[in-house]
Amino acid sequence: MTVDTARPTAAPEDRTTEARGILRANDRGGYTVPTERLYPFQWNWDSLFVALGWAEFDPVRATAEIDTLFRAQRPSGMIPHIVFWTEESTYFPGPDVWRTAPVEPSGSGISQPPVAATIVRRLVEAGLSLDRGHVEAIERWHAWWHRARDPEQQGVIAISHPWESGRDNLPDWDAPLAAVDTSGVQPYERRDLALVDAAMRPHQSDYDRYLALVDYGARHGWDDAAIAEGSPFWVADVGISSILLRAERDLAWLTRRLGLDPAAVEHRIARLTAGYEQFWNPDVGAYCSFDLRTGRHADAGTSASFLAAYAGVDARLGEVIDELDRWAKACTYLVPSFDPRHEKFEPLRYWRGPVWGMVNYMIATGLADVGADDWAQRIRTSTHDLILASGMPESFDPMTGTAVGGGSFAWTAAIWLTWAGQDS
Ligand code: DGY
Repeated sequence: MTVDTARPTAAPEDRTTEARGILRANDRGGYTVPTERLYPFQWNWDSLFVALGWAEFDPVRATAEIDTLFRAQRPSGMIPHIVFWTEESTYFPGPDVWRTAPVEPSGSGISQPPVAATIVRRLVEAGLSLDRGHVEAIERWHAWWHRARDPEQQGVIAISHPWESGRDNLPDWDAPLAAVDTSGVQPYERRDLALVDAAMRPHQSDYDRYLALVDYGARHGWDDAAIAEGSPFWVADVGISSILLRAERDLAWLTRRLGLDPAAVEHRIARLTAGYEQFWNPDVGAYCSFDLRTGRHADAGTSASFLAAYAGVDARLGEVIDELDRWAKACTYLVPSFDPRHEKFEPLRYWRGPVWGMVNYMIATGLADVGADDWAQRIRTSTHDLILASGMPESFDPMTGTAVGGGSFAWTAAIWLTWAGQDS
């Protein structure tokens, strides 16, 4: 097969203009939709990465993005993965399926990777003023993750739904999802397939399970204890755990900056650090998520396997980089979301292969932190080349570099503005 490697089609300064234009076009007044129609609401981790992009040319707007998201924080401290500020007909499942009312604003019943502390720290380091309210909201959100998603204090964070990982249809979730009973799922109409090529989206059998899990949570009133006890999907996610561990370190920094004692945060950092080794799968030679119901690890690495350095865990740095090197030899652009040598690798299907700009940003940040500057630079260059050649879609084919998923995507634009489009 001929590899149709993407070629640059724009000058960097044009991409910068385009990126700003995408943020402005996706702005709904205080929050930015990831892309119109396909994702027409506020998405949690999207918004936080997008704040980095806004900060490059409108710092006030960056702060507003975070304020708006935090206004949706629940009494438990949880911040939903989607906030339904408006009614829109182009997305399914909406509020009537999630059934989180009467709590306002209406939102989903699950959360998403907690990148807030890391983003806020970066904004403060860039000169934005530190908002004590933001730090308090983050503290309550982090405490929720530990209480609700690691109730037995194992030092690993569970997800109760693939969407909670933010990496929806990874092959990691296939085996745990197989146990989810879909017999009660009522007929429904997907809206995503009217907007994006079905070859780039999750299979129908995955969607049935996603909906069965939403129904499970709704029937249990989104009660955290009931979900931890009985959710048919309960998986320790190396992605969430790495992102939370990094965020806790950044929260400790923010707490000190306010002149407060971060002892409680340090305690949680120690627990997550001690727990991290549980992700190591010696059969694969990578950090892998594992099913907390069966104890079984996923049988392949994912892009989250390279987040250990970002989390501040460098115990197996050499092995992690060796594996990254093997991946690099198997694809054209770093970092595919799933092992490009594995039989389940699909370069176009959402999280089963495509490269995501904001994941690259996190991996490269971690590698630079531990002095692996050459790898950090290679990943940044890949991201830069992909965006230069293919613009700002949701994600990219790691073999050809072509655009995958939704177009005019806010977090890809933000990653260009804050990192990939900057001089190294
Ligand atoms: C979707 O609907 O595909 C979203 O990723 C869920 O968050």
